[in-house]
Order: sequence, then C-alpha cells, then structure tokens
Amino acid sequence: MNDYFGYRENTLHAEQVSLQQIALQFGTPCYVYSRAALESAYRAFGQALAPRDHLICYAVKANPNLAILNLFARMGAGFDIVSGGELQRVLAAGGAAEKVVFSGVGKRADEMRLALQAGILCFNVESAAEMEQLDRVAGEMGKIAPVSLRVNPDVDAKTHPYISTGLKQSKFGIAYDQALPLYRRAAGMAHLRVTGIDCHIGSQITEVSPFIAAAEKVLALADQLAAENIVLEHIDLGGGLGIRYDNESPPAIADYAHALLVALRGRSAKLIVEPGRILAGNAGVLLTRIEYLKHGEEKNFAIVDAAMNDLMRPALYDAFHAIQPVQKNRHRARHYEVVGPVCESGDFLGHARELGIAAGDVLALMSAGAYGMSMSSNYNTRPRAAEVMVDGESVHLIRARETVAQLYAGEKIIG
Ligand code: LLP
Repeated sequence: MNDYFGYRENTLHAEQVSLQQIALQFGTPCYVYSRAALESAYRAFGQALAPRDHLICYAVKANPNLAILNLFARMGAGFDIVSGGELQRVLAAGGAAEKVVFSGVGKRADEMRLALQAGILCFNVESAAEMEQLDRVAGEMGKIAPVSLRVNPDVDAKTHPYISTGLKQSKFGIAYDQALPLYRRAAGMAHLRVTGIDCHIGSQITEVSPFIAAAEKVLALADQLAAENIVLEHIDLGGGLGIRYDNESPPAIADYAHALLVALRGRSAKLIVEPGRILAGNAGVLLTRIEYLKHGEEKNFAIVDAAMNDLMRPALYDAFHAIQPVQKNRHRARHYEVVGPVCESGDFLGHARELGIAAGDVLALMSAGAYGMSMSSNYNTRPRAAEVMVDGESVHLIRARETVAQLYAGEKIIG
C-alpha cells in the first residue's frame, strides 16, 4: 500500500475513490490505476535526472494502455518499444516517434520499415545479422537508420532467471568482446548512422550495484569508440529498477538516478533510461471477487474470478502480490490459497494468505500495474479484464471488458 492506494474507514480506495464502488460499477476482474501514482513516479525520475540532458523512454511492454502512454507522452516521455505493434500504440496515444527507441532481438523487416517511416530516435541492434538487415531495409527506403548496439555487459542482475538479461548465456545483446568490431563495421555501413550505445541487464533489480557495474562496462566501450572517432550522442542504460511487492527494499528512484549521474560525470552524451515497472507497477491493482470459499482439512481455498490469464506473474515466476480485502475487519481471519477458476494447478494468485473474508467480497491484488494486463491472455476463453483510471474523485473506463464474441470474431468453421 502507498499514498495512492489506502484504507479509509476500512474500505480500500484508489485516490479518492472506493474500490468497492469501482467493482460494483465496472465488474470484476478489473485493473484500476491511479493517475497521480503514475505521474508522481515519472516526475520523480525526471527531477532526479534533471541535472543532465536525459530522455525517459517508458518501456511500453510494462503497460501499453493508450491512456497510460498518453499521460507519459504529455509529460514529455519517450518510449522503449519491442514491436511494430507497440510503435503503433505509441503513435495512436500521441507519443513522438523522435523519442522512440526500438529494442528486441527479433525485429522483422516490416517492423523496421514502419519505424524508419515514422522516424524513430534509435534502433537498439542486438546482433550482426540484424544490423545487416537494417542496413539493407534502410537502403531500400533511401533512409539512414540511427543505431545503438545493445551490449551485453555480462553482469549478474541478481534477479529471477526469467527476467535476467545481461549474462553471457542470455539471448539478449551483443557479446561484450564482439561489440567493438561490430561498431567499426556499423560505422562503415552506408545506411546506418551510429548514434549511441545501449544495455539492459534485467528487471526487478533491487540493488544499485549491478546497474553501476553495467554502466562502467558500457562507458569503457564508449571511450574505446571515441578513441576511434566513433562519437556517441547518447548512452542508454536500460530499465530494470525494482519495486516493493512484499518486503524487498529497492533503491529509491532518486538514489538510483544519482548513482547513474555519478557514473556518467564529465560526459556530455544524453542519458537515456527505459524504466517500465518502476513507473507503473505500484500504480495499479487488480480487483477480483470471491466466488466461493472451500474449507478443507489441509487447506482453505478462496476461489476468485480472476485467474492466471488475468495476472500471470504468480504462475510464471512464483511472484508475490500482496492481497488485500477491499473491505477489511469483517470476518474471522484464516489462511487461504487464493486461486482462480482456470483448469491448471498453477492457477494461483497467492499461497497461505491470512484473510478475513466471505464469498462475494472483493479482493485487491496489489502492485499489479506493470506486467499484469500486458501479459494477460484469453486462456479458457476468458475475456480480458476491464481497465479503469482513477484521477482524484473521477473514474474513467480506459479499456472496456472484452466480450466472448470478440474472442472468436476472427475464427471460421470449415465446410
Ligand atoms: N528495456 C528493455 C530492453 C527491456 O527488455 C525491459 C523489460 C525494460 C526496458 C523495462 O524493464 P523494467 O524497468 O520494467 O524492469 N514480465 C516480467 C518482466 C519482464 C521484463 C522484460 N524487459 C515480470 O512480470 O516481472
């Protein structure tokens, strides 16, 4: 819980609005975001990086709802995208193409064309083969593609292996030792212009030291490039700053940013960062209603109307999300397995949670603003949840609940 999600008279609120009210009005499962929380996280980043030329490129994958992209765009954000689809969302939301960096190991030629046509800031190139394809595509279009190489600094981000990306054995980025020769080749390619360097070592990182270790390796490479007259306009240090889900104590945005500024002292290149989770994670909750309680000999189950398809993180990473009753202190507390209706044993949202609840009560899965809705699926033909944005006392539906008809609209029965 934080300044934006808290209890008033035993009812959980988002800003000034009761989450009980939102569950009634919009139904469940329903994602609820706080505009003030999103904006305050972004502002904290901006203020901390203000001493130097910088660009905050929000990692769209964390939560790509147009309303969220639009809020950040209006605050001056750039965007880190990983697909042509994300680029189209950014443009639809009023984001500026000139502030977009394009990451990802598998950019297709059509996605490159889309991004070149839009005029993005930079392609973060992740392999020699991708670099060759980009040069060819840009040449065919009579354009010059701005490029960074995403370097793999081989540092341990000390996070979950599925979201650790900066180790030698990872599929991401260009091996540190190969970066210099590849930069030399890039500098000689007719349709590429080397503009920067990039790294991203993983996600939900709760210490500053891996970021600094990575930055130092990237900067050492930038120095070697400068010695060969390959001068970089920007240094992109990726995203990855963790949030508090349970009892983690990640660095404050200001401390993380300060450490980056210290590492970059004396350099004029623009600093780019690609934060996702830290901007959106604690700005959203997922509301779900309890369908049934099942009290057993060994375990008690709270069977709720949200499931692994709505919030995949517990099933996929064994991730922890705090679970709060929207109305508290109403029933005697017991320990519950909080589970969804999907036919998989992995379909759980929380283990052994102490809750005083009854069927019909609404629960809030906290810290669900990042990688919640964006990773949701339609497994078990479950329409995806509604999304709502609270702004002070106002509530806006920012994505309607899907209908079943939408789910099979593209399907055909054969004759
Ligand atoms: N830049 C690049 C190139 C990335 O791949 C990512 C995230 C980010 C920036 C943003 O990272 P953040 O600041 O959000 O940590 N689904 C996982 C997280 C996957 C992160 C993938 N890359 C989860 O739910 O924990």
